[in-house]
Parts: sequence; structure tokens; C-alpha cells
Amino acid sequence: MSSKSSSIESVLTENRSFPPPEAFAKAARVGSLAEYEGLYARAERDPEGFWAEQAAELAWARPWSQVLEWKLPDARWFVGGALNASVSCVDRHAASWRKNKAAILFEGEPGDTRVITYGQLHREVCRAANALTALGIRAGDFVAIYLPMIPEAAIAMLACARIGAPHTIVFGGFSSEALADRIGDCKAKAVITADGGWRRGAIVPLKDNVDHALAGTTVEHVIVVERCKNQVAWTSRDRWWHDVVDTASPAHEPVAFDSEHPLFSLYTSGTTGKPKGILHTTGGYLTCAAYTTKLVFDLRDDDVFWCTADIGWVTGHSYVVYGPLANGATVMMYEGAPNAPRTRAFTSGRDPGAGLDRFWDVIERWGVTVFYTAPTAIRAFMKWGDQHPAAHDLSSLRLLGSVGEPINPEAWMWYRKEIGGDRCPIVDTWWQTETGSIMISPLPGATPTKPGSATRPLPGISIDIVNKDGVPVGPNQGGFLVITRPWPSMLRTIYGDHERFRTTYFGEIEGCYFAGDGARRDADGYIWIMGRVDDVINVAGHRLSTMEVESALVSHPKVAEAAVVGRPDDLKGQAIVAFVTPRSGFIGDDALAKELREHVAKHIGALARPEEIRFADALPKTRSGKIMRRLLREVASGSTARGDTTTLEDQGVLEKLAQSFAHDD
Ligand code: WT7
Repeated sequence: MSSKSSSIESVLTENRSFPPPEAFAKAARVGSLAEYEGLYARAERDPEGFWAEQAAELAWARPWSQVLEWKLPDARWFVGGALNASVSCVDRHAASWRKNKAAILFEGEPGDTRVITYGQLHREVCRAANALTALGIRAGDFVAIYLPMIPEAAIAMLACARIGAPHTIVFGGFSSEALADRIGDCKAKAVITADGGWRRGAIVPLKDNVDHALAGTTVEHVIVVERCKNQVAWTSRDRWWHDVVDTASPAHEPVAFDSEHPLFSLYTSGTTGKPKGILHTTGGYLTCAAYTTKLVFDLRDDDVFWCTADIGWVTGHSYVVYGPLANGATVMMYEGAPNAPRTRAFTSGRDPGAGLDRFWDVIERWGVTVFYTAPTAIRAFMKWGDQHPAAHDLSSLRLLGSVGEPINPEAWMWYRKEIGGDRCPIVDTWWQTETGSIMISPLPGATPTKPGSATRPLPGISIDIVNKDGVPVGPNQGGFLVITRPWPSMLRTIYGDHERFRTTYFGEIEGCYFAGDGARRDADGYIWIMGRVDDVINVAGHRLSTMEVESALVSHPKVAEAAVVGRPDDLKGQAIVAFVTPRSGFIGDDALAKELREHVAKHIGALARPEEIRFADALPKTRSGKIMRRLLREVASGSTARGDTTTLEDQGVLEKLAQSFAHDD
């Protein structure tokens, strides 16, 4: 490690947690490092006993007979147990003093607001469950959800869970082609969407995208939430949400499903062109979502928890919906962009400004206490200027979180100083779509932090850093991050491709789960994530496969060949650079570059639009004809390497790892 990064590491902060108000005080769950270590050791000694204790926090209709059945790579958790996920998240709170407590605080991008109590949420989820049942949706049928961040998104998820219909959420920023691929892969029977969603003052035409996606699919019903009142086309398979849900009965008797009943699949990018449908099941997933929310965010009844992730990502599944609601918490839900002002209609005619302070405005007006966001957002806030948070009273905040990519120490320090006012602990949480819940994170009030390190694994989670033979590496040596024991919220399969599941996650390193990340552990046992070691790139916290973008590019008639790499980017973590060889007769000029960037956006979504397109007569290849990505990465990075030191340092190690791993180099 260089002297520069060690000087940052030496800023060992206290990560203090402040006691909650007297009325809500309860014994801290993990109050010190020694307590964390004690809990960790106990879970290591008796993992099944430990997880059984966590699972017992949920509402089970039938107890399990066996905690774990493990035949690598196949795990079954809480075997024989039965539960309904929506009961743990909704019914039990609606039947308690929390009935009139807010479950969801909602603010739309224009500034419209809604507050939904647990009692109301219960009635809405029941209504939606009845409506889906009336349309013929049965347990085991997949339902695709393509909605903006509005309360109906959470209601739709919970209604699907309630009737045992696994949901597949597709982020509203994905194109209709990407939506069609996902609907086709899981053979969804219904789609729940909206006419549109607000994004930076414009309407995202969600219903139009669905219409384009549906040709030749298995979809029988489309339920449409009226959000923007934009014009939409209508066919016989379409129903308005307000026609079918609002008129349905608010009473619904939940059926309990087997612990291993699929709860949802969520598509994420792998190293090939085809996205993977990561499948999660009910009992194990919900156990970990609830346990990690309680432990890492230590939610209390007076908290307002704002995880800024869209429900289209796993973070939104676990920390907007399932985890917090299982704990009876109040969540904040905001529909729009971080740089969109409210409209005058909602500011009582006052000048709404440029909107660069929107998040701080939301935190102040709603009294958000826990704020969980991504490093890419934090870097954007830094760029927009300190005056925006400074103009708001952020004293309600007591805890900050980060997720999605390694956070550079500069951003960490800024977050702590400008947002947390030096009083809020920061939890840097490492996990993946596949892990279902947080695996590595400091615990507020217990783990001293080092800016840029996700610190140590949660109790119950066994992590190691190994070389490609599976041998643990020494302190500060780079290696592959693996999870050595099964955990309840691990993915069960890649939907429809169990073999790919086995080879991707359990075929690389003998006997354990291979995460695809490089990491090192320092002398204090702190884990530093170094980034992906495969052909997955992380753009603004969104996972993309280089091959996915390449196949989109070569599907264009003017393209002969394409190679895509990530290059470090100050704001997004990584930016997409595409090297393209045009077909003979076509010239690689600005016009073609523009055309290709739009082509990719249309195929996958705006988030995959290459930052830069470079034309070349030929791409560098090995004698066996494989494109030398390593070289291209170096070329793409050029002199634009970002200023953040650790990531830069890691880059060298990462290159080596990538070299030894990706054999096409
Ligand atoms: C990849 C998983 C699960 C949250 C959203 C992303 C990277 C995630 C961290 C972190 C360093 C991180 C890893 C991982 N990542 N959190 N705190 N520090 N890297 O989910 O799309 O499944 O991506 O995001 O590279 O493999 P995802």
C-alpha cells in the first residue's frame, strides 16, 4: 500500500452512534467491537443455531424441521417451514400498535406527497392480491413489474408475494427490448406498469415501452397505474390499476408458502451477453433482509429510513421494501432525479430553484434519519457544491450508508463532514444481487471505520480472500473474494440455467461461492473491495456486462466488430468506452458515433450508452484471435485516470487479477 492511502487509512474514525430518544430507547443490539466479535464467534461456532434465531423473527405459519440442507451448490433453508412474506412485512404490523404508523412516506418528483400507514398498506396489498387473483394469476406465475418509484411499486411486490407469484422487476430506465428479454426469459403472465413516470421534468413512457415489448410474449394481462396522465394506447389485455385494484376487497386471507418457494427473480449482468435471472426464495431471503436491516441500520420506531435505490435494483428490494417493512420501519420513497426541483404548484408558488438540493430538501422536510445511497451520487453532490446541503437543516440524520461500488476516501470524508456533520456513523455495505442482503459492513456504534473499507463481515457470514487455487492469501495481498459457507439469502439458481449458476458461482474456486470481486484484507482484518475481476463493469453503481454492450453494437448494420471496456471515471466510477471497427464502406465519424450511442441506449437502456466510441481499423488480438481487452483498457484509461488514490493503486493489482483470471487477455 502506498503512503498516500495509508495516511487516509490512519484516519480511523470512531463511528459513534447516538442514543435514540428516551421513549424509543431499547438495548443496543451490538454496542461495541467486543460485542460484535462475540456475536461473530457465536455464529461461527453454531451457524445453523444462529440463523434459526434470526429466522424466528419472522412470522411463520409452520415451523421448519431442518435449518439447512446443503448439497453444494444447492442450499435449502428452513426446510419444511412455511410462511407468507407479506404477513411478516405488513399484516403483523397492521395488527399491532403500528397500524397507524407510517409505512411509506412518498414524494413524487413534481412534489406531490402521500403517507401510507401500515393499516392502509395492508388494505392496499390485499386489494392488489385479490385483483391479481381475479385476473387468473396463480402461485408460481411470474409477474413483471415495470414501475416508477411510487407506492404502487411496493404494493405490487407485496401483493405478488402474498399470492406466491414471483415478481421480476425491470428498472424503468431499461429499454423495451431489455424488458422483452426479461419478460420472455421468465415467461411472465402479467405486467404491472404505469402510463409514465417523472424523470427530470419529463415523462418516461413506460406503457409505450411495455406495448413495444409484448409482441410474441406470454403476457396475458397488463395492469396500468395512472401516474402522469400521458396518452397511452389501449388493448384488450390492458386494465387500469384503479379499475381492478381500487374496487377489489380489502380483505384477503394469506396462504403460507414453502420456505423455498420462489419470491422473486431479478436480472443482472454477467460476463456473457445474456442477463442472468437471479432467483431468490422466501424464508431465507426474508430472514437475511430483516436481520441485516436491523443490525446494520439499527432501525427504531421513530426512524425515517431513506434508501435512495430504485426498486429495479436489488438494493430497492431488500432495503426499500422487504428489510425495513419486515422490521415495521417507516421508509421514504422519492420518485425522481436527485437534481430535479419541485414544481411551483407544490412550493406554494415560491421559486423552486434549480433542484440541485432536492435530496437535502427531502431529508429536511420529512425528517429522514437514516440515509443510504451510492458513491456515484455522493460524488455528484460534491461536484454540485457544498452550498446545497449547507442550505438545509440535516440534523435529523443519525446514520449514513453507502453501497454499489468502492467508495473513494475523498467522497467518504465529504459525506461524513458535509452531510453527517461529523456526528453520523457511515456504513459502507458490500453485497450483490446474488447475496440478497448485506454481507460486509461496519456496525454503527461498534466497528471503527476506515474510509474506503467495507470493514468486516456480518455475524453469520464467512468471508475469505483466496488465490485461484482457493488458498487464502496473506494480509494486504490481493485475491478473490469468496463466501465459504452458505447463508440464507444466497441465490438458489439462475432461472432456467442451473448449470450456469453452478459454473459461475461455484465452479471457479473449489467449495465456495465466488463473488467476482477482487479484495484484500489488511492487518486489522478489514476488507478492501477492489472491484470486479471479470468482464462486468460498474457504471454509476449499475452492473453491465461488456459483452452485452458489444452484442448491442454488432447488431448495428454498420458495425463489423466491437470491444467494450470500462475506464475509470470521476463521477460514475467507471465509464463505457467502445472500440468499433466499421464495416467496409462506412466511415467512423462523429455522426456514426452518435448513431451507435443511441443504438445501444435503445437496445439496453440509457445507462448502457457508451461514454466514448473510438473507431479503429482493427482491434488488437492474440494469435488465437481473442481481443486483448487489457490493452484496450489501458488505452481507454489514457491520462484520464481518476484522482482517487486507493482505486488507482488497486487498479494495478486488479489488472493482474484480471489477467490471471480472464484468459482472453
Ligand atoms: C457489485 C454487485 C448490492 C448493491 C448494489 C449492487 C459492487 C457493491 C459495494 C461496496 C465495493 C461494492 C461489487 C459487487 N459493490 N457494494 N460497498 N464496496 N463494491 O448490486 O448490481 O449486484 O453489483 O457491486 O463489485 O460485486 P449488484
